[in-house]
Amino acid sequence: MEINIVASILTYITFLFLTIIASLLSYYYFIIYQNYTKSKHRPYKLPPGSLGWPCIGETLQLYSQDPNVFFSTKQKRYGEIFKTHILGCPSVMLASPEAAKFVLVTHSHLFKPTYPKSKEKLIGPSALFFQQGEYHARLRKLILSSLTSPNSLQKRVADVEALAISALESWARGEEKVINTFHEMKKYSFDVGILAIFGQLDANYREQLKENYCIVNKGYNSFPNSVPGTAYQKALLARKRLKQILSDIIYEREEKKIVEKDLLGHLLNFKDEKGQTLTKDQISDNIIGVLFAAQDTTASVLTWILKYLHDDQKLLDAVKAEQKTILEENDGGRKPMTWAQTRNMPLTHRVMLESLRMASIISFTFREAVTDVEYNGYLIPKGWKVMPLFRNIHHNPEFFSDPQNFDPSRFEVSPKVNTFMPFGNGVHSCPGNELAKLEMLILIHHLVTKFRWEVVGSQSGIQYGPFPVPQNGLPARFWKESSDPK
Ligand code: HEM
Repeated sequence: MEINIVASILTYITFLFLTIIASLLSYYYFIIYQNYTKSKHRPYKLPPGSLGWPCIGETLQLYSQDPNVFFSTKQKRYGEIFKTHILGCPSVMLASPEAAKFVLVTHSHLFKPTYPKSKEKLIGPSALFFQQGEYHARLRKLILSSLTSPNSLQKRVADVEALAISALESWARGEEKVINTFHEMKKYSFDVGILAIFGQLDANYREQLKENYCIVNKGYNSFPNSVPGTAYQKALLARKRLKQILSDIIYEREEKKIVEKDLLGHLLNFKDEKGQTLTKDQISDNIIGVLFAAQDTTASVLTWILKYLHDDQKLLDAVKAEQKTILEENDGGRKPMTWAQTRNMPLTHRVMLESLRMASIISFTFREAVTDVEYNGYLIPKGWKVMPLFRNIHHNPEFFSDPQNFDPSRFEVSPKVNTFMPFGNGVHSCPGNELAKLEMLILIHHLVTKFRWEVVGSQSGIQYGPFPVPQNGLPARFWKESSDPK
């Protein structure tokens, strides 16, 4: 009898629970679909796909596995445009070159960049990636011309070369020292970033910037909260210190009346048509933004390049042969590399492009629809997130045959237009791409002509931090060829 009563109570509770869940689900979908039917675009339907559970949507499915498996499973099931719900936002994912071009290039005015406020606070709200319209266009022109005008890039070759040599020498120093390749590449790309922003910067300032920037970088990927002592709060404090250090550097430049052609110089000298200059906040947000954009990205790609070359001895030998010819031209390395040489290493260049494709370290980007948008008979409602999936496009066999195979020769022919976007596309595409390529090519030149390296351990997985890098940052040993024990 008692058992029966308990069973009835349990059945009742289960029923009640299921009813609540069902009501929540109905309410949730009612709200989403009501917004849709209210829209003036009634003939258009939402893209296919699932919005998952209330509030959490499909966030757990996305983050409980390799995110690329999530994207490609969805693409197989629903096609090149599908809806989902992640991180609290209804979203539309786009896996075709045409759709990516629509969002990023031809109809970019219908979409705005969107980042969590917690992240915006750490970089600085006036940084380029968070902006759109007039301010973005003006600032972008300035940053682009400072980073990529051939004149400024050519001037950087010797300094980048010195940084590459110094990094490699330090890895090969010490008996059998195992280094974390990704961490070391981060130091190298940070130093190149500093060079592009400040030219030759006093070592004391550089160390202070590095120390505090590291704390900001750690906090960027941590859970945002207001509890003192957590990684996020430490990052906010380090962000304040960074601003102070930048203020000191700017003050010193102004005091000494130094006019430089580096990025800081461009930002300090900027005046719009009304004679308005940039504020100190705008300048520091953009400096921190560029450092942020320059470091982990380039370091991840370089780490992959080392792995791909290490795994393919024949390819490595061919790259070595190409680079040794340049070394000989430069009297065995006694003469510095030239800009023209960095533009004429076709095989190494193709290895870099194939690494960018294979690793697709920026798998996708986010935008938000600023109005209801119709695309290919589908409605993308105002406020929904829109995610062009670069990686899916780079790994689509229709555009890159046998896409899982690392094959630099595929770049002997240019890829179909809008199918290769490692640096994005359109108004927010990467203004640092030429600098990133230059620093990668110069490092490869010195690495393969004067050093040998061996990957330690047999782990073959991928780690996300947040960009994909080989497991454990690719632990490796480096030797200088002349002091090679073998
Ligand atoms: C291999 C290295 C790099 C990769 C793969 C990469 C990739 C990208 C991508 C895909 C975007 C566009 C994001 C979007 O559309 O939402 C972007 C934007 C950006 N990148 Fe890079 N990047 C690299 C290196 C650099 C470097 C070295 C710098 C600066 C020195 C830099 C500065 C920027 C900036 C400032 C933006 C924002 C542009 C805007 O919003 O207008 N990047 N990058």
